[in-house]
This record gives sequence, C-alpha cells and structure tokens, in this order.
Amino acid sequence: MNIYLIGFMGVGKSTVAKMLSDKLDFELIDTDIEIEKRENRSINEIFSQNGEEYFREKEKELIEELSKKDNMIISCGGGIIKSDVNIVNMKKSGSVVLLEASPEIIYNRVKDDNNRPLLVSNPGIEGIKKLMKEREESYNKAFTHKVDASKTPVQVVNDIITATLTLSDEFGNIN
Ligand code: S3P
Repeated sequence: MNIYLIGFMGVGKSTVAKMLSDKLDFELIDTDIEIEKRENRSINEIFSQNGEEYFREKEKELIEELSKKDNMIISCGGGIIKSDVNIVNMKKSGSVVLLEASPEIIYNRVKDDNNRPLLVSNPGIEGIKKLMKEREESYNKAFTHKVDASKTPVQVVNDIITATLTLSDEFGNIN
C-alpha cells in the first residue's frame, strides 16, 4: 500500500512525507522533485518554457508509474487532483491523505517562496482562496483520509499513522 499526501501548496506535505517515510521505512517520492530531476530544470522553468499542460502530463505519467509500486510515501504537487486519472490511480494503489489548513496559515508558509508559478499568477491570500475554491470539489473527491495540517508536523504524522494503518502496534505513534 502507498500513502499519497495531497493538499494545497504550502500545507506541509513535503515535511510530513519525509517524517512518515523515516518512521515507516517506506521509500519517499516527492512528485515535484522527481519531475524536476527527470526534466533537469525547475518547476518555474517547466511552466515558463512548456506551460502548465506539459507539467500536468509529466505528473500524470509519474502517478501512473508510482501506482504500480508498493510501500511508498508520495508527496504530491498541489494540483495533482486536477486530473481524474490521477485520482483513480492514487485510490486504487493506496491511501490518499488530504492535508488541510486555512488560507491564512498557507499564505504565511509560502509568502517568501518563489518556486510556485501559480501563486505568482494568483497572488496573496485572495489568490490562495480563489484556487482553493476552484479545487475544493476535486480534493474532496480524491481523499480517503483527511488530517488537520495546522497542527505540528509530529502531530500530523501521528494522525496519518492512526488514520491509515490498522497495524498500529507495529507502527506506534511518535513523540
Ligand atoms: C502546484 C503545486 C506545486 C507544484 C506546481 C503546481 C499546484 O507543488 O506542483 O507549482 O498546482 O498546486 P506543491 O504543492 O508541492 O507546492
């Protein structure tokens, strides 16, 4: 079983995914980092040189590939849920955990980061609110479990383990 972490940009997927993979000894993949590696260029460059559609195709290929693997923690780019094919592929191969936080919390976490082209074209808290609203239905369609990502990363990791793994004796909560 894979564990896919989904949710809006800046909600803390990468940090939590790293901690989860250490804790469970599952392999870690961050879709943004993997695509950057394969393309040998940054997300910003991919968007500006080839456009969003091209990036979405790369995401789709990667999720299809990862859905055939097992025991992976997969930190997904925030827009992964824009494709129904991705939603199907994720759900058939694992748990899909939605990390949720308010636009205000997210804004504070992303405001100094320039590697998110969609936040440049949708600036400020208003931009975040607009994108969140557009995506709300897709996020809700995609998740199998939902956690409150305004908590500390340690708490979020524990909540994910409790929610997704029934063999909790083996993977007891961390302190
Ligand atoms: C995007 C989120 C980003 C990255 C790209 C597009 C989105 O990932 O995939 O900039 O559409 O929400 P993070 O959620 O890891 O920031």
